[in-house]
Amino acid sequence: MKIVSGSASVPLAKELARIFAADLLVAEVRAFADGELHVRVPEGLGGEEVALVQTTYPNDKLLELFLLQDALVDAAPARVSVVVPYFGYGRQDKGFQPGEAISSRAVAKRLEIGADALLTVDVHNDRVMDYFEIPALNITGMPALARHFKELGIEMVLAPDENAARHAETVGRLIKTPWDYLKKERLDSWTVETEGKALRVQDRRVAIVDDVVSTGGTMVSAARIVQEQGSRGVVAGCVHGLFVGGAKERLKAFDEVVATDTVSSEYSAVSVAPEIARGLQKLSSA
Ligand code: R5P
Repeated sequence: MKIVSGSASVPLAKELARIFAADLLVAEVRAFADGELHVRVPEGLGGEEVALVQTTYPNDKLLELFLLQDALVDAAPARVSVVVPYFGYGRQDKGFQPGEAISSRAVAKRLEIGADALLTVDVHNDRVMDYFEIPALNITGMPALARHFKELGIEMVLAPDENAARHAETVGRLIKTPWDYLKKERLDSWTVETEGKALRVQDRRVAIVDDVVSTGGTMVSAARIVQEQGSRGVVAGCVHGLFVGGAKERLKAFDEVVATDTVSSEYSAVSVAPEIARGLQKLSSA
């Protein structure tokens, strides 16, 4: 197998190449003066099994992925598995109001051109996978966070909203601690309100887990409730760390912030490469 990486996912692709003992080939990507992208994949991919790894955040990385897929058409590999560590536009998975684009569907339809299979990690809603007509697998990066939480001696896992309850359950089960969830209401992109609730957090080290941290508002709102109830420490953990607009400042409320390498950042302390490797093996034997 050859691992081909776009510019957004080099550390993760490197880890995958190590696991598979495969060659890592990093595509050449440059921008013209007007911002348009030019990509080139290395030669020698003809007849090979290729895993193309590129996360789709921010927007230009998604466009880069489309171009990389196009470049691979002429390179003529035997099989292309597209690995999308973070599936951008996953939150617009249906029409919420008349006239809206179903962004996840639009992205999925483009991604399957020239792909034999696709793998992604903790897509916001499983429904997105139904938009694919090629074999497509959504795996979870929560075990990677769980490995880290175990080392930190986390004693309680909390989801900051109902959507993330299944993630808290997974992590709690893996590290054998109690878990719980809160309820939140989103008022706008920047503001959330979290309902108070009695939690078993007193004198415990608590991890709050979510799939995505964007502005950090959800995490911080949940942390307040945990801290008010006398926790011994609180850690924020997410699979996809976007950390937009002041999130880093906001997240200083936590003792530690940890994200995986689906989106590379200074918080990417754990890798989902082992989970992706297992997923790719499953897809290739399907
Ligand atoms: C939404 O349901 C997601 O799971 C996250 O809770 C959300 O994207 C986090 O956004 P923010 O960090 O801006 O509160």
